[in-house]
Amino acid sequence: MLGAAALPEINVKTIIEPFRIKTVEPIRMTSREERAALIREAGYNPFRLKAEHVLIDLLTDSGTGAMSTRQWAGIMEGDESYAGAKSFFRFEKAVRGIFGHRYVIPTHQGRASERLLCRAVVKPGHVVPGNTHFDTTRANIEDAGAEARDLVIAEGRDPEIEHPFKGNIDLDALDACLCELGAARVPFVLITVTNNSGGGQPVSMANLAGARAVCERHRVPLLLDAARFAENAYFIKLREPGYAEKTPAAIAREMFSLSDGALMSMKKDAFGNIGGVISVNSEEWWDQIRTLLILTEGFPTYGGLAGRDLEALAIGIEEILDEDYLRYRIASTAYVGKHLAACGVPLLKPFGGHAIYLNGRKFCDHLTDEELPGWALSVALYEHVGVRACEIGNVMFGRRDADGAWQWPALDLVRLAIPRRTYTQSHMDYVIEGIDELHRQRRSIRGLRFVHRPAVLPHFTATFEMV
Ligand code: F0G
Repeated sequence: MLGAAALPEINVKTIIEPFRIKTVEPIRMTSREERAALIREAGYNPFRLKAEHVLIDLLTDSGTGAMSTRQWAGIMEGDESYAGAKSFFRFEKAVRGIFGHRYVIPTHQGRASERLLCRAVVKPGHVVPGNTHFDTTRANIEDAGAEARDLVIAEGRDPEIEHPFKGNIDLDALDACLCELGAARVPFVLITVTNNSGGGQPVSMANLAGARAVCERHRVPLLLDAARFAENAYFIKLREPGYAEKTPAAIAREMFSLSDGALMSMKKDAFGNIGGVISVNSEEWWDQIRTLLILTEGFPTYGGLAGRDLEALAIGIEEILDEDYLRYRIASTAYVGKHLAACGVPLLKPFGGHAIYLNGRKFCDHLTDEELPGWALSVALYEHVGVRACEIGNVMFGRRDADGAWQWPALDLVRLAIPRRTYTQSHMDYVIEGIDELHRQRRSIRGLRFVHRPAVLPHFTATFEMV
């Protein structure tokens, strides 16, 4: 043996996808001409495109993730009994093991949870304060005749400011709101983790504890919209003093321990293609919700889902808390943000957990609010690059006041939502290059105007024409 020096420990810093690929789904390139015709036929609404005509689909991270081998195996174990299925008890145990509330009610997706809860406990004249309500949450609160009031901290409304927890609720504003209205007019406070409509920004544990204290003082229940609870937990681990050594599961449990209940779309941080849940401590609420559940969703041990879905969700909600996965998830999303920022593309900062948000107004600073800059950018992104993204801005939240004048939201964003475990780094390199090119030619992006604007959730079905 020659006396070779011992190698120093090799410390590879690249964060890789912590999985290998067993099944693939082909995607197909289209030409620029084809896409121009397709988006025109779709009334310039990316929601109205056929998915097969999209190369890389960043419309949503909801229901679009890849399931694991364990989840697929679980699907074969699904118990499809109408009542008392084994899969329900597995699901209940998995959810309760993390959320910790007494009653677990499966639903077919997040908005079904919202609808059932609102039907049960929200009355006309009520106000539901939150950090920023997601659009379907807001719609369900309003449909019950109540007001959805957004009380995110001021930093959360500024797309440029760096703040570790831009999803935080303004505790003084919350206290003032509860002082003004009292428990009689506030059925619950709902904090969304992470704050999707505010840019996928996390809420700190300290803020949740502060909100808990305010709610307790006013005797108002605190609920979490937990669609992306695991990503929120991992941000707490990364950014909040005292949490670096804790596991994401322990952090998640602590978050839920501050709440009286939770709603969740399990299409996000449970790796489900479909599914949702309501989890509450109140027996009275449980009873009311269960009655409504039977009316429209199904028997309480399946709630609109197949037994196989319950199995996949029970496994998914545990897998999501895997530390290797969350490290990769947050790092791979930030990778897209970092490279786009380096090209000078205007983005919401800091980068969210599930998505990168382009600043539509800045990207298209040659367009006025009436010309729907974020929406126009999302249309151009499809036409020029084949990527589908989602506007969260003027079209989604713009409203006319009593005099018919438009009220535009504080932010006009285009969200690049990244499905979980679905695309590789080279897909993201393609997206980055495409957006960089589009940004260089941004002045050629044309504005749009409404042809048809439905009154509720207009973005899903509205049609447009070029200005
Ligand atoms: N709450 C949040 C925070 C959400 O992001 C969503 C859905 C829902 C509730 C409703 O859940 O879709 O299962 O009925 N967000 C998706 C998105 C649609 O693309 O952000 P759902």
